[in-house]
Amino acid sequence: MQTQLLPVTPESLAEAGELIRSGALLAFPTETVYGLGANALDAAAVKRIFEAKGRPGDNPLIVHISAIDQLSALAACAPGPAAQKLMAACWPGPMTLIFPKSAAVPAEVTAGLDTVAIRYPAHPAARALIDAARRPIAAPSANRSGRPSPTTAAHVLEDMDGRIPLILDGGPCDVGLESTVIDVTGDVPRILRPGGVTPERVREICGGVAVDDAVLRPLRAGEKPRSPGMKYRHYAPAGALTVVQGEESAVIAAIRRLYDDALAQGKHPLILALDAHIPAYGDRRTLSLGADAKAMARSMFARLREADGLGADVLFSEAIATDGVGLAVMNRLERAAGFCVKNL
Ligand code: TXA
Ligand code: MG
Repeated sequence: MQTQLLPVTPESLAEAGELIRSGALLAFPTETVYGLGANALDAAAVKRIFEAKGRPGDNPLIVHISAIDQLSALAACAPGPAAQKLMAACWPGPMTLIFPKSAAVPAEVTAGLDTVAIRYPAHPAARALIDAARRPIAAPSANRSGRPSPTTAAHVLEDMDGRIPLILDGGPCDVGLESTVIDVTGDVPRILRPGGVTPERVREICGGVAVDDAVLRPLRAGEKPRSPGMKYRHYAPAGALTVVQGEESAVIAAIRRLYDDALAQGKHPLILALDAHIPAYGDRRTLSLGADAKAMARSMFARLREADGLGADVLFSEAIATDGVGLAVMNRLERAAGFCVKNL
């Protein structure tokens, strides 16, 4: 199959809408990461998403809508007070809510769960695509399973060339990390996956928030995750990544040592560091993660892909504090490292 890469125009959106209605897949930009979309109400189309990604069948998908009134056909009941507050404050935007599912949502979308994940994205191209398709769109991140999520159309092409007919190119994604997934089926909103909408913000809006404690640790043997996505290794570069955490100068000293040891063993090491620290690594090979947590969220997946391109076989990354969007950054970074975290 030939994969077309088109800018977002009324013509390409009309073609994309037609593709979705015909049961095909395509990739599209959102403000978080690029999505790999299909008609959420078409079980056969949804199955193709799992095939194209190589995604395990027990990891459910997020359904994207372009107006709040589309929610009632997908959720089994009206949103409760906390969900309503979150929807009013953060939709459209980088937030996904978990509701009890209606009978209209195929089991293929929810991997057999009785809940469904719904997101109303802010990106104008994503909303225009849903409008053009006149269907809710089920979409995971448009990477091959296990790889870093795509934040540009070029990343999508790396992973999906020949597997899908169309990629809509909307430029680089603004947030750079996937949406915050919040379970609103209980009394207190519970964050299952951190993202651009931070726990601090959810608490401010709802007066309370729970953060699933599996957010910053691997699952224990036999533990059943609240969000199936938690059990898979994600976002991984080809090289072995170690995250180094601790006081700033100690981290820099430790990473310099680890790098020099790896080099002495004939390896091809690479350091991922905040802008301000790059000079401290001298002529060692580095990639910048940006100036702060927000910049790191935006650049992290692209840097992990770049590291592969540079042939890095061992990578060392600085950690950042887990307040604000830092929690989402560390959640992805630790998973990318397969939880290989060195605490100083
Ligand atoms: O920003 C995003 O959310 C992007 C863009 C494309 O919208 N999408 C995305 O999808 O990140 P994906 O499939 O890569 O991640 C979906 C996450 C997984 O961790 C999955 O387990 C969880 O949402 N999820 C989906 N449905 C769920 C449900 N019913 N209950 C609990 N977790 C659910
Ligand atoms: Mg994903």
